[in-house]
Amino acid sequence: MTTAVYPGSFDPVTFGHLDVIQRAAGAFDRLVVAVLVNPRKSVTADAHDRATEIRTVVAESAPLLAGRIEVVTFDGLTVDLAIRLEAGFIVRGLRAVSDFESEMQMAHTNRKLRPEVDTVFFMTALEHAYLSSSLVREIATFGGDVRGMVPPAVARRLDRDTIPR
Ligand code: PNS
Repeated sequence: MTTAVYPGSFDPVTFGHLDVIQRAAGAFDRLVVAVLVNPRKSVTADAHDRATEIRTVVAESAPLLAGRIEVVTFDGLTVDLAIRLEAGFIVRGLRAVSDFESEMQMAHTNRKLRPEVDTVFFMTALEHAYLSSSLVREIATFGGDVRGMVPPAVARRLDRDTIPR
C-alpha cells in the first residue's frame, strides 16, 4: 500500500487544495492530509477546526475517494510525520514558477533529512492556479466575496468569523 502525506497550513482550504487532494487520492492508496499546528502564525481557525472542515468538504466533494483520505493535525517536521505514518511520499501542489523555488528547497531539505521520503508535485488545475489562502484571508478580512475560491462551508465560516476592517 502506498501512502502519501499532503502537509500544509490549509488556512483556509481552497479549491486549489481540494483539486490536489482529489488527484493525489487517485494516485495513492492512502492520502493523509496533514494540517500544521503553527502557533507562530496568526490563523483564521485552529488546526483541529481546519482539519474538521477539510474532512467535511472532502466527504461532500469527493465521496468516492473519502475512504482513502485521512485528515490529521501535526506539529514538528513533516518528514517525521511521514515516517510515523509509513508514508513514502510527500505531496505538494505547484501553481506557478513562483512556487518552484521554495518548494524545491523544501523537497531537497526533506530528502536530506529523510532520503526514504520523496516529494511528488501535482500541477494545480489551471482554473485554480491563481488561488492562495493568504489572498483568500485578505479578501475575507475586507468583506470580499470568496465563494468562487473556497468550498461553501469555508466561505460561510470566513463570512461569519472574520471581523471586517
Ligand atoms: O501550506 P504551506 O504553509 O505552504 O505549508 C508549509 C508546510 C506545512 C508544508 C511546511 O512549512 C512544513 O513542512 N512545516 C513543518 C516543519 C518542517 O518540516 N519544516 C522543514 C521543511 S523543509
